[in-house]
Amino acid sequence: MPPAAARTAPPVQVIAHRGSSHALPEHTLAAYRRALDEGADAVECDVRVTADGHLVCVHDRRIGRVSNGRGTVSAMTLAELEAYDFGAWKTGRPSTDPELRGVLRLERLLELVVDCGRPVDLAIETKHPVRFRGRVEAELLAMLERFKIGPEREGDRPSARIMSFSSIALNRVAAAAPDYRRVFLIERMLPLLGRLREGGPLPGGARIAGPGIDLIRAKPDLVPRLRELGHEVHVWTVDEPADVELCLELGVAAIITNKPAEVLKQLGR
Ligand code: G3P
Ligand code: CA
Repeated sequence: MPPAAARTAPPVQVIAHRGSSHALPEHTLAAYRRALDEGADAVECDVRVTADGHLVCVHDRRIGRVSNGRGTVSAMTLAELEAYDFGAWKTGRPSTDPELRGVLRLERLLELVVDCGRPVDLAIETKHPVRFRGRVEAELLAMLERFKIGPEREGDRPSARIMSFSSIALNRVAAAAPDYRRVFLIERMLPLLGRLREGGPLPGGARIAGPGIDLIRAKPDLVPRLRELGHEVHVWTVDEPADVELCLELGVAAIITNKPAEVLKQLGR
């Protein structure tokens, strides 16, 4: 049988979820650096806002799972968040590497990607869309503009797309910066999915659907239907070889994974 990559066209994009986060602590600069070294086509990150208005890369509302601190990101200042160790929970020892210490500011991630010497996409997911009335999306778009990261790759410059489970967040991005591609994330069968199957639009004018792998395993026919309707499909979080194979068979455009090196290897790259 030909290598998996040869059976798909165009080649599936490999997106490092929270960095190379199986190997290294998620959302740390070290995990993103590793993902870029491993050859990931894109990196995914979750973005939250601190009490003093800084964008930081943290998945959970609270920092207890991924640091030696406690508290809610949006109620803490950047300085407070920078004082904690975001690596030790995974490595099992206090971090001496500065790339594992302190919360990761989105700015630092953008610098890393811009300076990595090859074009890479950023898949940025905004969290808590309702509570801050668009502040996260507004700050994010301003930051992308400052870094000259547009919706398309230009030379070695990265591009960005914006992802959310929330149609409110995607609508905001559509209104403020319609050129940025939007990804509507889907976790489970919602009434909305029925409408999608009937040909209804994705929320927020998104042209990319982002279903979870659990949903795809349960409803594999969703992918061909979404593709038939003209949407790209980016699936998360795909770490098992059999799931990678399923994604390839279904013709997804992107695989979002905690294990970019393994997936790239499976794709013959
Ligand atoms: O890439 C999409 C995926 O990250 C969404 O789920 O919970 O990991 O942010 P979550
Ligand atoms: Ca995410």
